[in-house]
Amino acid sequence: MKIAITGKGGVGKTTFAATLARMYADEGRSVLAADADPDANLGLALGFSEEELDEIIPISKMRKLVEERTGADEFNKIFRMNPKVDDIPDKYAKVCHGVKLLVLGTVETGGSGCVCPEHVMLKRIISHLMLRSNDVVVLDMEAGLEHLGRGTTSGMDEFVVVIEPGARSVQTYKNVKRLANDLGVKQVRVVANKVRSEDDEAYIRSKIPAEDLLGFIHYNSEVIDADRQGQSPYDFSQKLIEEIRSIKEKIDQSNN
Ligand SMILES: Nc1ncnc2c1ncn2[C@@H]1O[C@H](COP(=O)(O)OP(=O)(O)OP(=O)(O)O)[C@@H](O)[C@H]1O
Ligand SMILES: [Mg+2]
Repeated sequence: MKIAITGKGGVGKTTFAATLARMYADEGRSVLAADADPDANLGLALGFSEEELDEIIPISKMRKLVEERTGADEFNKIFRMNPKVDDIPDKYAKVCHGVKLLVLGTVETGGSGCVCPEHVMLKRIISHLMLRSNDVVVLDMEAGLEHLGRGTTSGMDEFVVVIEPGARSVQTYKNVKRLANDLGVKQVRVVANKVRSEDDEAYIRSKIPAEDLLGFIHYNSEVIDADRQGQSPYDFSQKLIEEIRSIKEKIDQSNN
């Protein structure tokens, strides 16, 4: 199962990704959570301590590794477009609560046509995870798909757009859906987070086709408390777990 999570800033992507990853791990599945957000914080939401996280260097910052695999260095601007990466997830992931965390990091793209060695490596790692890994893979991404290409998205089973009950969020879903069609992604569905009222639910239902709606997560002060205390929401909120469990069941049903 390969699940990628996207959405606008601050909507709850990381909260959802971490909780889902912990759930699969508790089922005894082998889970790899990949943080592809430049402002990486999936580890905290999974329950890693700050000390553990301080020790993690994002793959994009591992200069020697990138040089060794791509053949690029400050003198050599010609490099391999197909670096070997299959050993990287297991070698560089750190485990906590049964979830392997791989922090990919990001690179300055400087325009959409960027082909720098770090970027090539990261895309190659993501496509390896999506197409060849035996793990359940949960990918926490920054908003937008522009940095992805067919190679990175074609193995994804489920593309989840986390939204809030608002017009701008709905617009993001539409943009992602359009881009995903171009990228050949099989399935794009929505999780509506921070829902406060029946009006919010009705609004979402009026904007998102029923077949694309995975479910609702309500606004939940326990989630905020967990974040403030540097804890995983999974260890903090039974209500969140229950809501995400029914979303997970839908994901499992259509991908089995
Ligand atoms: N259901 C919820 N109820 C209340 N607060 C929530 C809920 N879900 C997430 N939050 C809070 O919203 C904030 C953003 O959540 P999170 O970091 O998961 O979003 P994100 O989409 O990953 O953000 P970013 O774009 O910065 O990566 C956090 O403070 C989190 O605790
Ligand atoms: Mg995030």
